[in-house]
Amino acid sequence: MKKVYIETYGCQMNVNDTEVIFSILAKDGYVRTETMEEADLIMANTCSIRDNAEQRIWGRIELFNQVRRRREGTVVGIVGCMAERLKDRLLDTHKVDLVVGPDAYRSLPRLLKAITPDSPQIDVLLSRDETYADISPVRTDRNGVSAFISIMRGCNNVCSYCVVPYTRGAERSRDPHSIVREACDVFRQGYREVTLLGQNVDSYLWKSEEETVDFAELLRRVASVDPRLRVRFATSHPKDISDAVIETMAAHDNICKHIHLPVQSGSSRMLEKMRRKYDREWYLERVARIRSVIPECGLTTDVIAGFSSETEEDHAGTLSLMEEVGFDWAFMFAYSERPGTLAARKYPDDVPPEVKNRRLNEIIALQNRKSLERYRHQVGRRLTVLVEGPSKRDPDQLCGRASNNMMCVFPGGGHGTGEYVDVLVRDCTSATLICDLA
Ligand code: SAH
Ligand code: SF4
Ligand code: F3S
Repeated sequence: MKKVYIETYGCQMNVNDTEVIFSILAKDGYVRTETMEEADLIMANTCSIRDNAEQRIWGRIELFNQVRRRREGTVVGIVGCMAERLKDRLLDTHKVDLVVGPDAYRSLPRLLKAITPDSPQIDVLLSRDETYADISPVRTDRNGVSAFISIMRGCNNVCSYCVVPYTRGAERSRDPHSIVREACDVFRQGYREVTLLGQNVDSYLWKSEEETVDFAELLRRVASVDPRLRVRFATSHPKDISDAVIETMAAHDNICKHIHLPVQSGSSRMLEKMRRKYDREWYLERVARIRSVIPECGLTTDVIAGFSSETEEDHAGTLSLMEEVGFDWAFMFAYSERPGTLAARKYPDDVPPEVKNRRLNEIIALQNRKSLERYRHQVGRRLTVLVEGPSKRDPDQLCGRASNNMMCVFPGGGHGTGEYVDVLVRDCTSATLICDLA
């Protein structure tokens, strides 16, 4: 039996891809190890979204190489988005034996057999139809409660700053029957929550001779698997999230009331240049619609500070939008120019680093204040939590998420992982609700 060790970087889709890779390699006789030093195959499933994500991986490649030098025959592989973006430039370093892009994981067994010290192997072909629909991912989560299910791959939106369409290829949706089957399988294995994944789940569309299934219909089908199986999804795109999706969420108790809706900027001029295909008013209208149909809906977002030509006025627009909406939580980034993107070709990266960072810090400070407000707002409420396991800080306490995605910590009281528990919110920080059993 050969041993494989994989480090995963980037988004939830990459986490799920690693699970697909484990499944493909398991059929080829590999067992998983969490100790790099004992692995025959060391891989990083990589991310290219920002320059610092790639820099971190270069550091890991150095480390993998030290292990390879100590243990002759160890294979080092780079897979995922950075493999797709840099291709044979990774092999030119002589530090990597294997380079495989996100659509080529089925070729891993063949490539692994062909590797010799003088012939590294590469497959970075992107596909129009690969969705790995028939592969049951080997789950790598630690609690056995919450599973990822990819419902689509690639992206057809060419947001001008974004590298994903180049690393993941064209958008394609996965057969809904295979998605529902996978949800049934994980439920039978004891999982109580699935997260449906795609770069833009709202553009999910499956067409066959018998049926047309859009995202609202897919949500309905997955929610109907069992009322005890909670359904989450990410990422929603402000330009595409439909009333039907919002209404389907409202109609099913087991569809979690949380939407991750990346805004990127509060300035319509920036949004236009980013090619997001919506403006500030459209975004605010979608938020108003969500809140009118689902008043208790959790809302989180992504924000980019310092995109090309961003002025103080544009930046003030982002701050005022965040103030107005009041997100529960946000992922906030300084703009990082990615080679090959439309922005890299057309728009200079002209906001000085110190200005970018100052703006980012203002955005973070505002969001921290808003998060605390939003979490405080929950104090006194009664929430249902799906137990994920012991709390990291205090193993006598349990933790789990409420429907709105807020993390709750509460006394064990004989409850266990995978159970639904009603709690009363007593106190909070800006990232955790501190609760008592209800
Ligand atoms: N498909 C999702 C986002 C995927 S990437 C969507 O469209 O919303 C996750 C986040 O990374 C993005 O929402 C964006 O905020 C950030 N991001 C992407 N490219 C970036 C870049 N070049 N520089 C800084 N942040 C970036
Ligand atoms: Fe990137 Fe835009 Fe696609 Fe999201 S929707 S992955 S930001 S191109
Ligand atoms: Fe990164 Fe690729 Fe995901 S670039 S964010 S791992 S799609």
